[in-house]
Amino acid sequence: MAFIRKNIEELNFNPVSMIGKEWFLLTAGTPESYNTMTCSWGGIGVMWNAPTVTAYVRTSRYTFEYMEKYDKFTVSVFPEEYRKALSFCGSHSGRDVDKIRETGLTPVMLEDVPAFAEAKLVFVCEKVYAQMLEENCFIDRENLEKLYAKNAMHKMYLGRITAVYENQT
Ligand SMILES: Cc1cc2nc3c(=O)[nH]c(=O)nc-3n(C[C@H](O)[C@H](O)[C@H](O)COP(=O)(O)O)c2cc1C
Repeated sequence: MAFIRKNIEELNFNPVSMIGKEWFLLTAGTPESYNTMTCSWGGIGVMWNAPTVTAYVRTSRYTFEYMEKYDKFTVSVFPEEYRKALSFCGSHSGRDVDKIRETGLTPVMLEDVPAFAEAKLVFVCEKVYAQMLEENCFIDRENLEKLYAKNAMHKMYLGRITAVYENQT
């Protein structure tokens, strides 16, 4: 593992395919207590003049408790060979299993926030805004009925990107 801190404007990636197709691990907590889960919804953009990540976390997720409790989180993007590990972290809860033991991923601290040594890219983020999605704000009602009739609502977290690390190994 050799994480090199990069200027985000020097990086070359497509946020739509990176998030939607490659997925990422969203992680928050401390070295002693943290949780991670797979996400494929979110965004990378600019808000209040700063580069930002947006993540959407259903309130039923164990990770939700960590996102609420801690001010920072990381977004870790992995090479294709870790697809199985990401599938595992997206289909099991940290309430029931030790995802790190089961996947063999290696936690590392970057800027005091847990991330993973196997990641190819890590965004370290500081929460700047968080808000529940609200039923009465859905313009496309089909999404509301299809995605939330039986499942918990998402909370949106906007994180200012405070550092980006690229893995040079
Ligand atoms: C490919 C994929 C993408 C996912 N994207 C999200 C997401 O963006 N938001 C979300 O709340 N859950 C998402 N999930 C579901 C969580 O990762 C899953 O429920 C996970 O087991 C939650 O773990 P936790 O209870 O330890 O937090 C996704 C799952 C997969 C497999």
